[in-house]
This record gives sequence, C-alpha cells and structure tokens, in this order.
Amino acid sequence: MMQNPTLATTLFSLLLLLHSSLALKEGQTCVSNKNCDKGLYCETCVANGNLLPRCTRIQPIIPTSKVKGLPFNHYSWLTTHNAFALLDQKSEIDSLILAPTNQQDTITDQLNNGVRGLMLDLYDFENDIWLCHSFGGQCYNYTAFQPAINVLKEIQAFLEANPSEIVTIIIEDYVTSQKGLTKVFDAAGLRKYWFPVSRMPKNGGEWPTIDDMVQKNQRLVVFTSKKAKEASEGIAYEWQYLVENQYGDDGMKAGSCPNRAESTPLNTASRSLVLVNFFRSVPDVTKSCEDNSAPLLSMINTCYQEAGKRWPNFIAVDFYKRSDGGGAAEAADVANGHLVCGCKNISSCKANMTFGACDILPEAEAIPPRASPPHASSFGFRNCKPLHLLWLFATTLLVAMLLSL
Ligand SMILES: *[C@@H]1O[C@H](CO)[C@@H](O)[C@H](O)[C@H]1NC(C)=O
Ligand SMILES: *[C@@H]1O[C@H](CO)[C@@H](O)[C@H](O)[C@H]1NC(C)=O
Ligand SMILES: *[C@@H]1O[C@H](CO)[C@@H](O)[C@H](O)[C@H]1NC(C)=O
Repeated sequence: MMQNPTLATTLFSLLLLLHSSLALKEGQTCVSNKNCDKGLYCETCVANGNLLPRCTRIQPIIPTSKVKGLPFNHYSWLTTHNAFALLDQKSEIDSLILAPTNQQDTITDQLNNGVRGLMLDLYDFENDIWLCHSFGGQCYNYTAFQPAINVLKEIQAFLEANPSEIVTIIIEDYVTSQKGLTKVFDAAGLRKYWFPVSRMPKNGGEWPTIDDMVQKNQRLVVFTSKKAKEASEGIAYEWQYLVENQYGDDGMKAGSCPNRAESTPLNTASRSLVLVNFFRSVPDVTKSCEDNSAPLLSMINTCYQEAGKRWPNFIAVDFYKRSDGGGAAEAADVANGHLVCGCKNISSCKANMTFGACDILPEAEAIPPRASPPHASSFGFRNCKPLHLLWLFATTLLVAMLLSL
C-alpha cells in the first residue's frame, strides 16, 4: 500500500503539470495522447518490441499546405483500406459483425487526420446500398456495417467544411441495382463536388491542377471497379486511370511489387496515377504497427522502381494510425517530398523552390530504413532536455507507485 499520500499527491500534481505543459515529440514515451504534440498519438508497438507507449505520427503533412498549384497526380494521399470497417463497430441492423475490421476511427476522424483516399466496399442490401465486408458479391447481416449514405454524408460534411480539400473514393463495387451508386451519391449531396470522367487524362497525361479542381469545386474523385459504370453512370473505371500493386500477403513480399490482376503493370505509362497497397490478407491490428513502419517505406521504394520511377499517389494501409513512429503518415510525407519538390520529405518543400534544391541536412542520406527503432531517444537521452528527464523520472515513479498500490 502507498505509505506516503503527500508524496503521491505531489508526484501526481507534478505529472499533471507536465501533462499539460509538455508536448512530447515523435518517439518519446507518453502516458496518453494529450502528452504528445499535435498530430501524434500515444501508443505501443508490441510487434516491434516497443512495450512502452510512445508518441507516434497519425497525420501526414497536407502537401498542398506546402506547395499549391501542381497537377493532382503530383501529390500523394494517405488512403485507408476498408475505411468503413471499424474495430468494435456495431452493425446498424443489430447483428453481430463477423467480418474482419481494418480501421480504428470514423471516416470523419480519418479525414480530419489527413486521410484523403477512402476504399469503400459497396453492396446492394436491404433495398439500399450498404458498406459491407463480405464474399461472393453478396452482403449478409453479419457482414453488413452500415448504409453507405451515412459515410457519404460524412464525406459531404468534410468537403463542405474544407473548401480546398480533395477526397478520392475507391469503390470495390458489388452494386448491381439500376443506378444504385448514382442514387446514393446524389442522396448524400456529393454530386456538386463530382470530378467528371471527361476531365481525367486518358493516356497518362497530367491531371488538372489542385487549384483548378478547387476553383471548379470538382473535389471528389471517384473510381469504381466495374468497367461498365464509366459509360452508364459516369463513374471512372479505376484501372483505366491508375496502376495498383498486389494487395494482401502477396503484396507484402519485400523487394517485389507485382501488379494486381485487374491493373496493368505498374510501369504502364498510359496510367497517370500509382496506388500502393500494403496490408495483410487478414487484417491484424497488432502487427499493423510494424507493417506500417520500415516495411511500408521500403515497399514504397520498391514500387517506385517497379512503376518506372514513379512515387505512389495513394498509399493504402490498414489501421493507418498504428506504427512504431512515423508510420503511414511519414510514408505519405516521403512520397510527397519526391513528387512535390524532388526532396526526400515534404517538410523540405517550399513554394516556388527549384525542384530538387533541398536544403535540409538529413536530405543527403537515402530514406532511413528504421532498422533499429530509436529506443534511446524515446527516453529523451538523445536530446537530454532536463524537462524530459524529469518527465521520465516522474513517469517511472508513477509506475512504481501504481505497482505498489
Ligand atoms: C437480417 O436482419 C434483418 C433486420 O434486422 C432481419 O429482418 C432479417 O431476418 C435478418 N436475416 C437473417 C437471415 O438473419
Ligand atoms: C519527414 O519530416 C518530418 C517532419 O519534419 C519528420 O518527423 C520525419 O522524421 C521525416 N521523415 C523522413 C523519412 O525523413
Ligand atoms: C510563387 O510564385 C507565384 C507566381 O510567380 C507568386 O504569385 C507567389 O506569391 C509565390 N509564392 C511565394 C510563397 O513566394
């Protein structure tokens, strides 16, 4: 039992004070999200041996905040695979969901964290269009998440509130009802943001610029996996415009980046956009923090070579918030650095700079393969600020106290 309540109270007050006054950086040991700088999340990565929670990145730098005006295909967007399949989600039809889940937070939270690509599986179900994670093209009570309109309305609200942001929806399309997708997009109020198929480059040309898309309010890019819907409903057939690597376990073999069956090879120059999938066949929240770290950065480099030296425009992952440090957000920053200004990180890009004129020191090196996670730095030894050591000291004491209770 705690023998000295005064000491405990003092330490607790000290901790609370530190909580509120210290914004911890990426990689530093934390107790809760509040301790960490904006855009960071306090989490362990047991799969990588990081048993103490550390501040990890969940938000990429919005590349248009650094350099505006480039064509759409000169940016990279963090993308969530099965964006709607959330951990612990309750089904709207009061059924137990037996389908696997791939993400942790709502579409609204994902968008607010800088996710700009959403992969959605849409099915006919209950006389409506539903988000479902199913098999055989059929949605069942136990694989149904919620009516698509709910999530599409969240996207509508985000586009409304953020008039210079662009969102891409990539549909795994099982809808066969007549104009089913058209109806649900219209009902969600998304038609007015629609980027028309007629403006998508057909032969590997440049896309319109971000500024142009924003000015014309054509800020929703939608792709379907059903070819016929391009002619019948004006929804772009995905693989006419982008190349994509293999998804699932077969797409996670280090050093190789084969195209998925529906896509032309990654180096097909007549497709302007490149999408890199990097997630397991069976989603694994525990392992995802490892997957989304060094192996993801490494795969992006492999796919860059395979795609004819093109960086990905979309980086699609499961559990996008999970990593051992920089994660998928950092992978997007790296891709954006290369795409936007020819540097190794979007943080080095500035408006009107000469492409490739990178001025920051670490740029000299190749993308650091985070072989050994910076354990030491998480305790503040690297930048031995007294406050950080105090923080460590206080945290250790608190843990000791809790253990002795
Ligand atoms: C599926 O859920 C609906 C709505 O709750 C219910 O009416 C229906 O009987 C369920 N179907 C099966 C096969 O359980
Ligand atoms: C990219 O820049 C961010 C912000 O400066 C930094 O946290 C991150 O470590 C950098 N990543 C790489 C791979 O250089
Ligand atoms: C970049 O160049 C454009 C066009 O010359 C100019 O309007 C803009 O102010 C410049 N931006 C910065 C940050 O220098």
